[in-house]
Amino acid sequence: MRLSHLVYPIVQPILRMLRRNPILIRAVFGVRLPSGVAVQYDPTTVLLSRTMKDLVGELLQQVDREAPVRLLEMGIGQGALVSLSVAASYPPERIKVDGVDCSASRVNSSQEVARFNDSDAHFWVSDLFSDIPAESAYDFIYFNPPYVPTRTGQELQLTRRLEVDGDQMWDGGDDGADVLREFLDQSRAYLAPGGCVVFGVQEIFLPDSLVRVVMKPYGFRNVLKKKPRWLPSTVYVGYAAK
Ligand SMILES: C[S@@+](CC[C@H](N)C(=O)[O-])C[C@H]1O[C@@H](n2cnc3c(N)ncnc32)[C@H](O)[C@@H]1O
Repeated sequence: MRLSHLVYPIVQPILRMLRRNPILIRAVFGVRLPSGVAVQYDPTTVLLSRTMKDLVGELLQQVDREAPVRLLEMGIGQGALVSLSVAASYPPERIKVDGVDCSASRVNSSQEVARFNDSDAHFWVSDLFSDIPAESAYDFIYFNPPYVPTRTGQELQLTRRLEVDGDQMWDGGDDGADVLREFLDQSRAYLAPGGCVVFGVQEIFLPDSLVRVVMKPYGFRNVLKKKPRWLPSTVYVGYAAK
């Protein structure tokens, strides 16, 4: 039996309680939820939002930086918590936030949360980059992708346990990395010079050795790995090849 099968059923009920709590969401992400809108997050959402705030802050501090930082979140989910938490941290004229998801209901829900928080972030439906204008150039493209191998997710009955409306929330294909591979491949055409991709996974489902193999063909430079002790998630940053 794999480690994920042993650990997940124990940890998951605790996480389920924590990850839907609007008070906690406000404290962790600085995002207010309208009543009747159900939003949940996972540990990767938390780490990705912290990392994005830091990275955007570093870029804005560059002395010669005048243009707004351009951000694209892939897979915003029900509340676009990563993007809206970054948007809440910086003056609106200094960042431009776009976000997409393949699910129309998740995009609608995220738009409602954005309106409730007076954010001018722009969200729309897209299957990966299918509906991103070809001329777009982003400083950051970030994603908390579905990364659980299909068989593991089915055995753990994740769609039922997580109470989500479809497998796309977690299903990363045979080895857990199918959506990530496609994202890494397509993202390169939408990065501005010096731009980077940022994505988060849980090593229990997608080990570091596999992530490294998956990233290799796409030529990202200066790959950084962030793995705090206090969360079971890992974030990777990769800069566009010159
Ligand atoms: C693990 S959830 C992350 C949700 C949210 N960003 C968060 O951190 O809580 C993965 C999200 O990616 C979206 N997704 C999966 N496949 C996608 C695709 N091909 N194109 C766009 N979004 C996709 C799912 O609908 C889901 O909202």
